[in-house]
Amino acid sequence: MSDRVYIFDTTLRDGEQSPGASMNTAEKLRLATQLEKLGVDVLEAGFPAASEGDFEAVSRIASKLEKTEVAALCRANKHDIDKAWGAVQHAVKPKIHTFIATSDIHLKYKLNMTRDEVVQAAVDAVKYAKTFTESVEFSAEDGSRSDRDFLCKIFGAAIEAGATVVNLPDTVGYAIPSEFAELAKYVIEHTPNMHKAILSIHCHNDLGLATANTLAAIGVGARQAEVTVNGIGERAGNTSLEEVVMALRTRNNYMPMHTGIVTENIYPVSRLVSMITGIIVQPNKAIVGANAFAHEAGIHQDGMLKNPMTYEIMSPESIGLNTSKLVLGKHSGRHALRSRLKELGYDLSDEELNTVFTKFKELADKKKHVVDEDLEVIVTEGVLRTAE
Ligand code: KIV
Ligand code: ZN
Repeated sequence: MSDRVYIFDTTLRDGEQSPGASMNTAEKLRLATQLEKLGVDVLEAGFPAASEGDFEAVSRIASKLEKTEVAALCRANKHDIDKAWGAVQHAVKPKIHTFIATSDIHLKYKLNMTRDEVVQAAVDAVKYAKTFTESVEFSAEDGSRSDRDFLCKIFGAAIEAGATVVNLPDTVGYAIPSEFAELAKYVIEHTPNMHKAILSIHCHNDLGLATANTLAAIGVGARQAEVTVNGIGERAGNTSLEEVVMALRTRNNYMPMHTGIVTENIYPVSRLVSMITGIIVQPNKAIVGANAFAHEAGIHQDGMLKNPMTYEIMSPESIGLNTSKLVLGKHSGRHALRSRLKELGYDLSDEELNTVFTKFKELADKKKHVVDEDLEVIVTEGVLRTAE
């Protein structure tokens, strides 16, 4: 079995479903560019049938990205699939991601369909999507609360119809790691032709277990993790990209697998997501929280000075957190400003930098040090909100 774990980023789709997190097209494009630099394998850009705005954003992102696979989400019906393809078709690597619920509770109350009808809808959807693109993913919504033999049946049928990835979501964040690993293992062992597709997992964090469940499933053979930056997403959020990636990197001795993520870009992208969505990162958030690399206790500080590995299992530099920050003030020049903005994830054009530099100087005249949060406000208000 391959040791490569694919990272499917859904910050722009499931992440945007966080209450209050909607982003405009210019913000999505900017974030998509940074996610490509971060090295995500698949970028789910949106749900084109949901709104004209989503359609537009997905198609702009699809045309812009140079190497990343761009996915569009759609329900398992022709109308949605047409919209998804309409939006994603100009991508260098387009992907259609179609889904239907598989748990009895969803079948009875939401879909009003029998299991056989759901299998048929999934097969029809995958076959129709395949007429547009080779790369088709099928998701069994509410998979973790579905009958496991039914899951194997529908995944087998989707693979036979041409799905290259089948995704097992813990849609409501209900699973427990040992149980989820058992389910993923069962699916891998009992789904017909599973060797022809990749098993993906997609977890939500309602019990605070999304990362644990994702790692548990990877441990038994899942090879794609669906994640969002900072773990933003519906309700309590999705599995956080930075946690899965850094767990695999830091504990490679126990889980010898790797991703294609350029980990040094994690912190700048985390800041950018926070700024654009307005969702602040809790200070004690693993990997990217303000306190993740802060040491308060005297004994810890003493240990750190002797050898950082006494109390740090990964270095701040490995996630792009520059510990020796340049202090920006009224004497700082354009070069230092550009370099700090780059660290924060803002790759600005010369014209944008001019705008930011003017506002930065105005502020530096009024306060001693201009901190990252100030820069982010300047960039957001001076550039991001006007860039469309
Ligand atoms: O949580 C979920 O089940 C989803 C699917 C659409 C993959 O987001
Ligand atoms: Zn989800």
